[in-house]
Amino acid sequence: MTATISSKPRSSSSTLPPPILEAKGISKAFGHVQALTGVDFELYPEEVVALLGDNGAGKSTLIKILSGVYRKDAGEIYVDGHHVTIHGPLDAQHLLGISTVYQDLALVDVRDVASNIYLNVEPTFFGIFIDFRKLYEDAHKVLNQLRIDLPSVRVNVGELSGGQRQAVAIARALARGQRIFLLDEPTAALGVEQQAKVNQLILNLTEQAKTVVVISHNLEHVFTVADRLIVLRHGRRVGTRIRSETTKEEIVGLITGAIRGDAVD
Ligand SMILES: Nc1ncnc2c1ncn2[C@@H]1O[C@H](COP(=O)(O)OP(=O)(O)O)[C@@H](O)[C@H]1O
Ligand SMILES: [Mg+2]
Repeated sequence: MTATISSKPRSSSSTLPPPILEAKGISKAFGHVQALTGVDFELYPEEVVALLGDNGAGKSTLIKILSGVYRKDAGEIYVDGHHVTIHGPLDAQHLLGISTVYQDLALVDVRDVASNIYLNVEPTFFGIFIDFRKLYEDAHKVLNQLRIDLPSVRVNVGELSGGQRQAVAIARALARGQRIFLLDEPTAALGVEQQAKVNQLILNLTEQAKTVVVISHNLEHVFTVADRLIVLRHGRRVGTRIRSETTKEEIVGLITGAIRGDAVD
């Protein structure tokens, strides 16, 4: 356990549970651009962490390192206390249960909701024929778990709204048994009403004992869902706050540098 944590996760137990994911001293450069410098990051079970920072602060880079898209230059990653090496996105998903939902969502527009949720892992008869009855039943179950309301699991994803598509992408990760959800700007392209639905979806995920990291520019959004807020600035972690113990003003100050953070560059 590092000494950098002063927060208590959602759990009401008086002792802090060990983090399910811990990154220490993560650094990453792209050529001459130092995107991350010695960043620590930790996630406790069933919490929602908002990862905040101005454009270029290093948020997406950190998420991509945790999800196996980029290799870190330095630093260590621990999952359930075990040191891990993440070789690629499949490692992150299959071995560690870490799933990222990016803005483009990687959905197949010309296929229906159920097929998208179980894309490439469809239930089959004898491993050959798709068991459509089970496919639709299972898709229903996953959507119900998250209380996602869609017209039908048979509607093509291309016909859905942005918020609904986001929901399908999250349901897909849930159906694959993922336990850590990294959401990079999930509401950026959405209207207000749909943003609220995605917020609710994030809270529903934690009811399913999942842990969520959400990147967002929208502080209103973040203050509704996050238990803790972690602020990056110029590739360094400058602050960690518990939502109930901070204000939007303080967070904006940390993001802009008006408030001197814990790490100074
Ligand atoms: N693939 C890449 N190639 C070169 N530079 C990159 C790449 N990805 C990110 N960067 C740079 O790294 C820094 C951090 O970027 P990023 O992690 O995307 O920030 P954020 O998500 O907080 O806006 C920026 O200066 C960005 O230009
Ligand atoms: Mg980004």
